[in-house]
Amino acid sequence: MPLSLLAIAATAALLLGVIFKWLRRRSLTTVRGPPSPSLLLGHEHALSTQEEVGILEFEWLREYGPTWKIGGNFGTDLLMTADPKALQHIFHKSGYNYTKRTSANYMGYMLSGPGIVVSLDKDHQRHRKIMNPAFNAAHLKTFLPLFQRISSKMVEQWKAELSGTEQMHIMVNKWLSRATLDIIGEAAFDYDYGALNGAKSSPLNKAYDNIFKDISFQPPAAFAIFNATWDYVPESLIKLVQYIPVNPFTRMLNLKNLFTEYGKQILREQRSEVDVEKPSNSRDVMSILIKANASADPKTRLTDAELMAEMYTLTLAGHETTSSTLTFLTYELARHPEYQARMRKEIQDRRALAAARGDADFTVEDLDSLSLTVNAIKETLRFHPIVPQLLRVAVKDDVIPLSHPVVSTSGETITEVPVQAGQVIVTSFAAYHRLKDVWGDDADVWNPDRFFRPETGKHTNVGVFSNLMSFSAGVRACIGWRFSLIEMQAILAETLENFEVALPEEKLEIKRAPMGPIMLPVVVGKEELGSVMPLRVSLVQR
Ligand code: HEM
Ligand SMILES: *[C@@H]1O[C@H](CO)[C@@H](O)[C@H](O)[C@H]1NC(C)=O
Ligand SMILES: *[C@@H]1O[C@H](CO)[C@@H](O)[C@H](O)[C@H]1NC(C)=O
Ligand SMILES: *[C@@H]1O[C@H](CO)[C@@H](O)[C@H](O)[C@H]1NC(C)=O
Repeated sequence: MPLSLLAIAATAALLLGVIFKWLRRRSLTTVRGPPSPSLLLGHEHALSTQEEVGILEFEWLREYGPTWKIGGNFGTDLLMTADPKALQHIFHKSGYNYTKRTSANYMGYMLSGPGIVVSLDKDHQRHRKIMNPAFNAAHLKTFLPLFQRISSKMVEQWKAELSGTEQMHIMVNKWLSRATLDIIGEAAFDYDYGALNGAKSSPLNKAYDNIFKDISFQPPAAFAIFNATWDYVPESLIKLVQYIPVNPFTRMLNLKNLFTEYGKQILREQRSEVDVEKPSNSRDVMSILIKANASADPKTRLTDAELMAEMYTLTLAGHETTSSTLTFLTYELARHPEYQARMRKEIQDRRALAAARGDADFTVEDLDSLSLTVNAIKETLRFHPIVPQLLRVAVKDDVIPLSHPVVSTSGETITEVPVQAGQVIVTSFAAYHRLKDVWGDDADVWNPDRFFRPETGKHTNVGVFSNLMSFSAGVRACIGWRFSLIEMQAILAETLENFEVALPEEKLEIKRAPMGPIMLPVVVGKEELGSVMPLRVSLVQR
């Protein structure tokens, strides 16, 4: 098809779509919210470019209660909610009746290909069915030695850098990101990214560095408008966007092409090694996927392209999320030295116990018994949810129930919000995690000891872990949440036993910058560095 025809078709589809949406946009008339600052962009661009995640949401939460309305692109209304019952309804009770929004999902597609994160409905069910066996609780325990081996490798390198000096300044997030990348490479497909091998690291490692900053930090308004049009054009047209030869598209395409080179080779090697008849001879996720694929009902099988996208997806979804959560946790420990000391003591005591048993390493039971560490993880997931919000679109007309009634535009109290098919909903996990009647009056401070209080988080049951929404929930909940928890427990136990972390001498201000779907730490005034967390590290004195 000639380009001009394509352009005409796209414009026509776009106009029709906008008109259609426009006609339906009066659906949230009863819900209060801030006036939209822009007809084209609503609050969407403001949200994705705010100085720090939370500035706008927390203000709206204070002003309107946990459910409100904001302006969307092209004059539409978005429903925004932090209400536990609404979250439960959307994520837990409605199956696929709240689906992903095309524009956001297509960013995911450009990054990770046709894998589990971007698949929808029945297709998603198929992906999930093949992948579930690799993530069951019993199997995950077998990854612990891997987590410990990579953690020790990082510990040894820190020790080497510290030899002869009292302390060093490091970018903690870069180290943690290398460790989690090496872990996911081996765990997912028995591949060594060599991220902890310095100069000998694989080009893939370098290609991942700062990917989120490069593609979605402070996107220009023009890009946000272009992005918004994807919700109105046919899918076949959107699929061409990835080939537009400018950034961020080139950046994403290059990364995907690089991965495809590796992926093909890994897949070839893996497939010849995996013996379908025999019980699992390799423990990595990919081997399990290949086996599950081979034995599955032909209708539920995955294509090679999908399987490759799965590898890619796991690398992307599994490393920066975990390392960033650990980064924020380490930062909080630097700010709370007394808590850090208590945590270290608990780890050392348990180490003595394990040593008395004759064990060189902690077991999963040991790690689970470290309640101060576990609580610090929970508190960091709550206070710094790396995925601060998700977007969902109502597939059909529905009524969303609320646990926290809000005042309507006409002054009445409403306990439910009717929505029409097509309504976009922004579910704010960051704001839900600050509700005082769920988390306590001190919800706005980082305090892991809150999890010793039996009433903490007890409200409406949501999420997969500790009533937190950090891993999302329901049919599309994070498949790697248990994996990630054990991994974080193992890394923390190894590093804190050996090192003290402190804030750098130079006073720096850290902020939580929105970068597309996630939030990452940046230093105020040094935004160009992308995601960084400078901290001071010294050896624990024994
Ligand atoms: C602290 C660490 C992590 C956090 C906060 C996190 C958070 C999330 C969230 C919020 C989602 C839902 C995304 C959406 O609906 O668009 C998700 C999905 C997913 N996560 Fe994680 N994740 C973490 C670690 C991991 C790890 C370690 C893995 C893999 C080993 C992983 C693999 C996935 C996959 C495959 C999905 C897609 C699930 C689906 O759509 O069915 N995640 N994660
Ligand atoms: C989704 O909507 C359909 C159509 O209204 C309904 O039959 C189905 O029960 C809903 N699914 C869930 C899990 O609520
Ligand atoms: C594109 O739109 C989606 C919402 O549909 C949003 O989550 C994403 O951040 C946008 N990307 C950019 C770079 O503006
Ligand atoms: C999964 O099964 C399908 C159907 O047999 C096959 O075409 C595909 O190559 C398999 N994928 C892998 C990676 O084994």
